[in-house]
Amino acid sequence: MFDFEEDLRIPIVGAPMAGGPSTPELVAAVSSTGGLGFLAAGYKSVDAVRREVDAVRALTDAPFGLNLFVPGRPLADRAAVEAYRDRLQPLAERRNVVLPEVVDRDDDAFDAKVDLAVELAVPVVSFTFGLPPRGVVDRLHAVGTAVVATVSDVDEAVSAAERGVDAICLQGVDAGGHRATLDPDAEPDPRSTRELVEAARVAVDRPLVAAGGIATGEDVAAALAAGATAVQIGTALLRADEAGTKPAHRAALHDDRFTDTVVTRAFSGRPARGLVNDFITDFDAYAVTAYPQVHLLTSGLRAAAGAADDPQGLALWAGVGYRMARSAPAEEIIRDLWREARQV
Ligand SMILES: Cc1cc2nc3c(=O)[nH]c(=O)nc-3n(C[C@H](O)[C@H](O)[C@H](O)COP(=O)(O)O)c2cc1C
Repeated sequence: MFDFEEDLRIPIVGAPMAGGPSTPELVAAVSSTGGLGFLAAGYKSVDAVRREVDAVRALTDAPFGLNLFVPGRPLADRAAVEAYRDRLQPLAERRNVVLPEVVDRDDDAFDAKVDLAVELAVPVVSFTFGLPPRGVVDRLHAVGTAVVATVSDVDEAVSAAERGVDAICLQGVDAGGHRATLDPDAEPDPRSTRELVEAARVAVDRPLVAAGGIATGEDVAAALAAGATAVQIGTALLRADEAGTKPAHRAALHDDRFTDTVVTRAFSGRPARGLVNDFITDFDAYAVTAYPQVHLLTSGLRAAAGAADDPQGLALWAGVGYRMARSAPAEEIIRDLWREARQV
């Protein structure tokens, strides 16, 4: 079974990034370089995930991971989501988009994706938005798969360890994309990723993978010095040659019109950090905590913005280190980060 302490030649994990960036090519490049690449199963059909796992295996013999979204709680306040839908309606009309009706379901096919991961014996499987049920951890262990839980504070890390996971990905407030928090209404733990790792180190006895705002060799070295076994980088790979990041998103990371990131529920109904753009400015104040309802509600609007190459309507997920994201082969990004970290 994959061991984070023993089996990483370079202690850098390529974050799973759903919505396009994590291609099989990116995952294979990170893993072949000696780190651990992660496919993102979120939003994808089971067949698409199977094809991606096969594609990674065709590109590399190195171990890699697959990340799954754990279904959240049922829709609590339909009226609030309907009210948010009304707020989005004028924009939808301007963009010629028909907003879907609000549905009370999670269509991410969690159980079928777990079955697939077991069938394919994917080397590492990580979970976010919730902890994997104990039975799922046991099934994955039975086929030799290492299990990672993603969490965003120390209490969640303790709960994850109690589920029997093999490693814990600890995501700090600086992280780009969705927060892993088990409670999407919770205020983020304000501690830096490094401080979080220091606190979790004494509370749990599992390898910690530190995620959030890791953009330089110094950041990598600081996280490892704090007690992390590895770091997980997302934003730093968004402009990698192999990443499937939308062109407008790629460009926005280095565009002077975008000068800040913020945590918002406006796009998906779950807190996530992205570059401040018109969509966030217009709708963040009205956003509600309701995933995946809000995600489904805004998907046509985001698709229309993507098709028009318009960064103002896209979810431009980014961590605080976004200006450091380089356009280069993933192998070079990983090797340079690790070389700089060793020099510190
Ligand atoms: C575009 C994007 C998509 C992401 N999608 C996922 C995902 O599908 N699953 C997940 O566990 N984390 C996801 N994350 C969060 C990353 O796993 C990681 O915590 C984060 O990127 C670390 O912070 P950084 O972006 O500052 O490096 C995503 C992050 C970004 C930037």
